[in-house]
This record gives sequence, structure tokens and C-alpha cells, in this order.
Amino acid sequence: MHQVYVFDAYGTLFDVHAAVRRYKDDVGPDADQLSAIWRQKQLEYSWVRSLAGRYRDFWALTEDALDTAFRSVPSAPRTMRETLLDAYRELDAYPEVIDVLTQLREAGAKTAILSNGNQAMLELAVRGARIGGLLDDILSVDPLEVYKPLPAVYELVTTRFRLFPEAVSFQSSNRWDIAGATAFGFRTVWINRGGAPDEYADMAPAVTLSSLTGLATV
Ligand code: LAC
Repeated sequence: MHQVYVFDAYGTLFDVHAAVRRYKDDVGPDADQLSAIWRQKQLEYSWVRSLAGRYRDFWALTEDALDTAFRSVPSAPRTMRETLLDAYRELDAYPEVIDVLTQLREAGAKTAILSNGNQAMLELAVRGARIGGLLDDILSVDPLEVYKPLPAVYELVTTRFRLFPEAVSFQSSNRWDIAGATAFGFRTVWINRGGAPDEYADMAPAVTLSSLTGLATV
């Protein structure tokens, strides 16, 4: 067991494709494509803005990315914009999340989120998923005004919990986030839900799982 288990939020605890999936029929035949572009652009904007020194918070990037996705997928009705953004505010948590967090805390570990999300959107998501009572803290990049995978972001965890990086187990479904967290010195667990090919061979996860199930025993 590690002393602290830290989770990425979007894609790891919360299903980023749940918003479009909930309205699949209204969005139309290219719903999956819209959802994929929405997510990809949201991430791209976070990296570009960190590198360019032009921070905008993650909720604003989520809106910008959805607008780009609509422009790329003409079959999707733009009248769905506000409905999809509302759905993104309360994404579904993956089904195993509550059990896994409960198990870790019963074993005496601390748990937290470390996310690109700004505090308000993270708190809404946590409340929607009813997991607030299972987390010791929700750490957002927002006060730093840069995004993962900059080392300063991962350092929020070691500063908050007063630990060396190796005492922290960090879980993310984003392989690029695992690369950054490994480089920082965390024990990393890649949650490879979709069976994606491995990348960043020199910044490899310690463990790969297909969901969060079993985390307390690896
Ligand atoms: C997050 C994004 C990267 O929650 O998924 O930080």
C-alpha cells in the first residue's frame, strides 16, 4: 500500500464521453466523433496554453473545444451546446469508483484528485458522483495557471501531503499524464480502459490496469 492515492479526474474517475452519450440520438450519427474531437481539442488547448503562457481555465477550454468540435462535425446540431455543457458538469463516474475509494480508505490510505479542472467544475463533478466523503482533497492546477504534465502541477501533491513522490500512487487513464507523473517520481498506475497501445517507453507506468478495480492490491 502507498500512503496517498491520487487520481486524475477526467477519463479516470469521470467518463468524459458520458455527456454526448446521454444525448446520442439528439446529436446524431456522428456523436462519437463529436465527443472524441471535443476531448482531444480540450487537451490540446491545455498544452498549447501552458507552453504559450496564455492560461485560460479548464472550463473555458471545455467550451472552446466543444465549439471547435461543432465546427468540425456539421451534422451535430449546435442547439445542443448548452445541454452538452450541462451534462459535462455532472459526468457519470465509472462504476467501480466508489468501491475502490472506499477500499483504499478502509485500508488507511489517503485519497485525492489532481486535475486540470478548475475548482468549481471539480467540486460539481464530485458532488454529482457523490464521492466527496471519500476524498481527502481536490487539488486543481488553477492557482498555478499551468496544466499537466508540468512538474509544478504534480508538486501540488507532495506539498499538500508533505511526502516524497515515491510515497504517492498516481492513477490516470491518460498515458501522457502517466508519463509526466512518472518523470516526477510518483509510482504510477495507467488505467488503460480502451486497450490503447503503449507510448513514452522511457516514462513507463509501474502497473497497468484495465479499470481501477484491484488498485488496492497492486
Ligand atoms: C484532468 C484531465 C487531464 O482531469 O483529464 O486533469
